[in-house]
Amino acid sequence: MKLLWLLPLLSLAAVDCQLQCNAATSVRQKRTVIRSPVAGKLSVLDTCQYEVAPWSSQVCQVRIDIERFELPQPRFNATSQLLECVDFMQVQRFQLCGRNNGQHLYVQVQRGRALKLHFSLGSHSTQSTWQLTLTQLECPQNTLAMAKQQPATDASHMPTVRTLLPFLSNFLPRTIFGGNPGNGPAAQLIQTLTAPSAADLELLAPLGCDQFYRSTTGGIASFNFAGGIYMPNMRYAICVAGAANMEISYSLDHFSLSKSNNDVLGPGYDEDCHSTVKTMGRATDYLLIANSYMANNQAFQPTYYCGNQLAGSKIIARPPFVINFSSDAQTNASETGFQLTYKVRQSQSQL
Ligand SMILES: *[C@@H]1O[C@H](CO)[C@@H](O)[C@H](O)[C@H]1NC(C)=O
Ligand SMILES: *[C@@H]1O[C@H](CO)[C@@H](O)[C@H](O)[C@H]1NC(C)=O
Ligand SMILES: *[C@@H]1O[C@H](CO)[C@@H](O)[C@H](O)[C@H]1NC(C)=O
Repeated sequence: MKLLWLLPLLSLAAVDCQLQCNAATSVRQKRTVIRSPVAGKLSVLDTCQYEVAPWSSQVCQVRIDIERFELPQPRFNATSQLLECVDFMQVQRFQLCGRNNGQHLYVQVQRGRALKLHFSLGSHSTQSTWQLTLTQLECPQNTLAMAKQQPATDASHMPTVRTLLPFLSNFLPRTIFGGNPGNGPAAQLIQTLTAPSAADLELLAPLGCDQFYRSTTGGIASFNFAGGIYMPNMRYAICVAGAANMEISYSLDHFSLSKSNNDVLGPGYDEDCHSTVKTMGRATDYLLIANSYMANNQAFQPTYYCGNQLAGSKIIARPPFVINFSSDAQTNASETGFQLTYKVRQSQSQL
């Protein structure tokens, strides 16, 4: 099983395909690199579209590695009272602008459907630049559908689009998430499936995860953290891989989200971040970390974290390792975001 970890590295050696902005055709490749046009071409474009066709009928997710991403910073619109991206990249429900070097995103794609990336470039900035690598990931085939099918006589002429059984789509993420991939019935079942590639199984994000970190240590930051402000109305889930007998510690290097009761001093937890009663315009900027507690006080076990006094704190959490980020419609210059480092390790404590 150890060998599986090498496979993603091997696949990196494959030749990448480059896709041009507003190309008439869509590419059908396992890995596609998208780069901004040269400055002279870029400044005359209003939009830039990329279309990436599935390279097989099994593709169910695309991992988007944002190697370089610099677009103009969002601006405050006095009419709408909203922070808005001037230029942006839109991919499904995600709209990104500002500086996002090093970030990544996972998007689900319906089988057989192309993925579209849209860049809106109305400000004609010559400073904008981006480079993204898109990796198409395949989900295991539906075993039931396969069993029902005739032997693969003309499979090569007629690509079939199979949907995952609800059971399977629930099952797969959980396996990667909490289970030890080395043994157990779950791992055995995965192996008996006609998996397109073991490397993909390792890379696939659990369902519902918009970001997925697979290494045992790493850093996580909010979008446009380098630009100094996060966008309103965002909701996404950040997941870290880890088995059931593990725990994770998050060290908050920077932390500044708004709080519902700004007049109350002190760090923001639970009710400060997310009031139990839903009211119009309530502040709901927070990181939601289930099954967590403060490292310096194990009796203190919040779920929601907000405010601007938690920098320097350490939070311990149990699997599954998921952080939900939420921002409300209001914006404030103090909403600079968060940056943390994490470490996954053997569980040392009872919650
Ligand atoms: C500001 O928001 C208003 C209302 O949503 C919109 O009509 C207008 O185009 C926005 N202005 C800019 C400069 O984007
Ligand atoms: C956190 O995010 C996950 C994945 O998107 C979602 O299923 C879950 O409902 C969210 N939890 C809360 C409390 O919003
Ligand atoms: C922004 O938030 C800070 C504290 O988080 C508060 O003191 C300040 O009044 C807010 N500013 C505006 C314009 O709402």
